[in-house]
Amino acid sequence: MSALSELNIEIALCQQCEIAKYRNKVVPGEGAEDADIMFIGEAPGWHEDQQGRPFVGPAGKYLDELLASIGLRREQVYIANVIKCRPQGNRDPLPVEIQNCRQWLERQIETIHPKMIVTLGRYSMAMFFPGKSISKIHGTAQKRGNVIYYAMYHPAAALHQQSLRRAIEEDMLKIPSLLARAEVIKEEQEPEQLSMF
Ligand code: URA
Repeated sequence: MSALSELNIEIALCQQCEIAKYRNKVVPGEGAEDADIMFIGEAPGWHEDQQGRPFVGPAGKYLDELLASIGLRREQVYIANVIKCRPQGNRDPLPVEIQNCRQWLERQIETIHPKMIVTLGRYSMAMFFPGKSISKIHGTAQKRGNVIYYAMYHPAAALHQQSLRRAIEEDMLKIPSLLARAEVIKEEQEPEQLSMF
């Protein structure tokens, strides 16, 4: 069994948070184990909790369309969330849940070793761009070590707001060129600078 499958089994057994009692299924993540790009959302919703798979509801269908716009299928990337269990009633994740679950996401990133991490929404952005505002940094990237971090709006938010929809679709289209230039992009540039191309 692959290291990632073993890790995801460990995740599925986690009982650290109160919400573990209410979940139907854990949603560790899915996709290519050697993916170049990892998309990180917020938390499973109702559909994801039913199926144990990330982004399979309306936001997931939209994410699939966004991926298709750059010629990718979900099997070619890795899709995960900041927290792996559904918060009851789709409330926002609690700080303690984000803290408890952080180890799992970090281990997934170490195992997958992506070239690019794309944050979807505020909670995911806050992990990688602390203190930043999504309306300012969406569509911009920053290289740290060998990884490019790139912030986008959450597909669920963009589905319902026309202006965000345009933004998320445009931001998605920038990904292939960022990835193609991954090796030549300089480290630690401010997020804004990388968006100028
Ligand atoms: N929203 C998320 O953030 N993640 C999912 O898996 C589904 C919806």
